[in-house]
Amino acid sequence: MSVQTRNARTTTPQITARKGGEPIVCLTAYTTQVARLVDPHVDLILVGDSLAMVLYGLDSTLGVTLDMMIAHGNAVMRGSSTACVIVDLPFGTYQESKEAAFRSAARVMCETRCQGVKLEGGTEMAETVAFLTERGVPVLGHVGLTPQSVNQMGGFRAQGRSDEAARRITDDARAIAEAGAFALVIEGTMEPLAREITGDLAIPTIGIGASPACDGQILVTEDVIGLFTDFTPRFVKRYGEMGRLVSEAAEHYAGEVKRRQFPGPEHCFGTGPRN
Ligand code: KIV
Repeated sequence: MSVQTRNARTTTPQITARKGGEPIVCLTAYTTQVARLVDPHVDLILVGDSLAMVLYGLDSTLGVTLDMMIAHGNAVMRGSSTACVIVDLPFGTYQESKEAAFRSAARVMCETRCQGVKLEGGTEMAETVAFLTERGVPVLGHVGLTPQSVNQMGGFRAQGRSDEAARRITDDARAIAEAGAFALVIEGTMEPLAREITGDLAIPTIGIGASPACDGQILVTEDVIGLFTDFTPRFVKRYGEMGRLVSEAAEHYAGEVKRRQFPGPEHCFGTGPRN
């Protein structure tokens, strides 16, 4: 009996196979509707814990729980059909031990049916990444600026400025790649260093504030469409002005309600000819 696969989604091995080839296009999504809109245009959707700031108004990613990530992961899976969907493991759900990391990852994968998880960290997380990947959990690594360590880094600053810091990030990237990650996010890192790491690794690098030489790029969708404007990092390019459009639409609606122009007869029941 042959087993037919119903899965039309890009797989994590397909992402790995894109090393050095056509750039891998990635965006974040947290909701069904945004997932539906970006899915036809991207290879990978990340349900990022950046939802803390973007959706929930928090000042860092530290307030995110596994249940929140699972709820948003489910929403994104419902809205997408072709992209590879990866869900972030939030702070505190994987650092304690590789067993704790497996339990968190297994919950995320079983309860959302996403294709893998992302976790932050370098050499200190390599054993955990190996433990997960040897047990069927594809892992997207994340080095450089790691927002879950904001308190240790003393703010959201580009990383890899000194020779020692650059050596540390290079070691982190190598350790995560050797541990079996299918790809690696490099965030907020000096451009020449991100370029060098990309040339050095056998797995694809996905840059955000890193380098055009990375094998792919990722941005937060709400940054790209101008819906999150609390702060705009240097690495963001805005491709739309949804914030302005929402504000103008709300103002227009409020004016029509106040002038009793909305609702019109066409929006009411029982105002047309009876049949
Ligand atoms: O949480 C997130 O959205 C991320 C990406 C920006 C890489 O980690």
